[in-house]
Amino acid sequence: MDLTKYIRNIENFPKAGVHFKDITPLLGDSEAVASCVEQLVVLIGDKKIDKVAAIESRGFFFGTLLAQKLNAGFVPIRKPGKLPYKTRKEPYQLEYGLDALEIHEDAIKKGERVLLHDDVLATGGTARAACNLIEQLGGEIVQCNFLLELEFLKGINKLRSHPVQSLLKF
Ligand code: PRP
Ligand code: MG
Repeated sequence: MDLTKYIRNIENFPKAGVHFKDITPLLGDSEAVASCVEQLVVLIGDKKIDKVAAIESRGFFFGTLLAQKLNAGFVPIRKPGKLPYKTRKEPYQLEYGLDALEIHEDAIKKGERVLLHDDVLATGGTARAACNLIEQLGGEIVQCNFLLELEFLKGINKLRSHPVQSLLKF
């Protein structure tokens, strides 16, 4: 199934000059969601995955579905102050200013094989911070996997040697 038609282009959101890729039409169609999960799993191939780590908030939509499909545990990587137990924190650069992500310090055990998932790879700052957190805990990043990649922003360069797979490229 071609999922491109379920991605809606919104001009000037969240601010002037930005072309936003809206995945809510995809989320609203159960067959498209099922096909999307299948296609993401195909990108992973036969690699063994212990944990799927996904980034708040839009990474959570498919992160848990992928974890179930792969018989893997799910690990939420969240914005600061949301996780209740002991956390590790990693700052990252936004276009203007800094933000940060957190992970529970016991979420991944040393040597576990981790799939990082998010909806969009843009500049790569978010995914890079998430990779740093996974590696701080001793996780081995098997693949970074995205629904959409905005190739012109070259976010892939921030992910260094990690294998990157994206379903749709714009
Ligand atoms: C968006 C998107 C990715 C990130 C990609 O999340 O869902 O997580 O930006 O950007 P980057 O590659 O330039 O770092 P956002 O921070 O807007 O939050 P949300 O997922 O909660 O909507
Ligand atoms: Mg996000």
